[in-house]
Amino acid sequence: MAGMTTGHRLGPLDDIPVGEGRAYAVGDLMIAVFRLRGGGVRAVSAVCPHAGGPLADGLVDRRLVVCPLHQHTFDLSTGCSTTGQPPLTVYPVRVDADDQLVLEM
Ligand code: FES
Repeated sequence: MAGMTTGHRLGPLDDIPVGEGRAYAVGDLMIAVFRLRGGGVRAVSAVCPHAGGPLADGLVDRRLVVCPLHQHTFDLSTGCSTTGQPPLTVYPVRVDADDQLVLEM
């Protein structure tokens, strides 16, 4: 599990349907990775800071995720809430040449 500088492989990109999110356990962290409709992936902390909702199950558009529990919203690029909640942690994530999701940490 110890991260090398090459990053931490999460699995195939195709594990995430386009326009949806999926939660991954990475060490002690839960990280939600979203596959955006317009292309690209985003990774943020998976637990909603409002009351612990599962953000990976939230609806996403090109920029925001909406928590399924009480509909607070967060910008997936900055982690900032647009509805006054504490921010999410944003993690650098990429897709490698083998279409694997790689978390840079
Ligand atoms: S737990 Fe996410 S909005 Fe309340």
